[in-house]
Amino acid sequence: GVPALICAVMGYLSGSVPFGLILTKMAGLGDVRSIGSGNIGATNVLRTGNKGLAAATLILDALKGTVPALLATHFLGFEAGLIAGFFAFIGHIFPVWLGFKGGKGVATFIGVMFGLAWQMGLLFMLVWIATAAITRYSSLSALVASVAVPLVLWATADPKLAALATIMTVIIWIKHRANIERLLSGGESKIGKKG
Ligand code: G3P
Repeated sequence: GVPALICAVMGYLSGSVPFGLILTKMAGLGDVRSIGSGNIGATNVLRTGNKGLAAATLILDALKGTVPALLATHFLGFEAGLIAGFFAFIGHIFPVWLGFKGGKGVATFIGVMFGLAWQMGLLFMLVWIATAAITRYSSLSALVASVAVPLVLWATADPKLAALATIMTVIIWIKHRANIERLLSGGESKIGKKG
């Protein structure tokens, strides 16, 4: 119905704000899409050498998923939260403002999880940090953590939430296909390294 449509549009508009691109341009660092992996996410913003901007990108790209998920849940209920959160994630990956060429969805996935089932946001962060501590690969850490969340959700939570997380994880993996190829060939860059 109409409320679901409003949740989808509001979620999408929130998710489609490319904070990594905006912050690096405002800081006079040029276009983040022309360096490193070419991605607009926090990992690639870190390749500019500016840790503060990378942290801000991570937090804002997460919040643009958390806020619509929480607002929709509060006013319209859990299923509305699922719709708002999912479309925020889609907005980040396919922003109309950038010709539908957006990010890889990791920060926004974490943010949506914090809004819908905060324990899953925490689980993602713990698995990401553990994998990154061992391997120093941001992409690999995201790939592993993004699988952990739906696995736990299918075992413990509402199947609608588990299904939603599964779809988002599949999209995250598809968006990381260049990273996966580099991981397999040994060409992936480690966290904080340029290029
Ligand atoms: O969130 C994206 C991260 O997993 C990989 O980023 O820039 O190395 O492709 P990047």
